[in-house]
Amino acid sequence: MAERRVLKLGDPRLHEAASAVAEVNRPELHGLVQDLWDTMRARSGAGLAAPQIGVGLRVVVFALQFNPRYPEAEPVPETVLVNPVLRPLGEAREEGWEGCLSVPYMRGLVPRYTHLRYSGTDAYGNIIEREVSGFHARVVQHECDHLDGIIYPQRIRDLSQFGFEEELSLANRYDTRPC
Ligand code: NI
Repeated sequence: MAERRVLKLGDPRLHEAASAVAEVNRPELHGLVQDLWDTMRARSGAGLAAPQIGVGLRVVVFALQFNPRYPEAEPVPETVLVNPVLRPLGEAREEGWEGCLSVPYMRGLVPRYTHLRYSGTDAYGNIIEREVSGFHARVVQHECDHLDGIIYPQRIRDLSQFGFEEELSLANRYDTRPC
């Protein structure tokens, strides 16, 4: 499998709603998942959604290992999520800095639900159900937004909190990695 080109903001395909995967545990789906991992890792991302490589299917991958540069971001297990469903637990939201491989070199402050429950399957059809919070909740919301054609800048409440990484004060203004 292979690293694929990542679509960037401005490509209309990033704003299309993706279709549900009709059948799991197919060779094409496993190939797609491998390409997502290869592409995400080649760019040191924390997550990637199929529409970002031009595939309009409801598939996302994400993972975050402990990184001493981002000690506040708790590790997130390697996860493949097919046909995900998200349900916020409560109304609480918190602002956090996000990036996106489709919006290179930029970061923005985005409100996300603090706690949520999500479900779906992996690529083999095994059911995944989790209750999460913090960065794990944030990355799931960011990736699943891609499946509905939403890119994080559309969620920013105050556009003065959006800019180039090199101009933001890196040490103090964000503690997450590009999704
Ligand atoms: Ni993204």
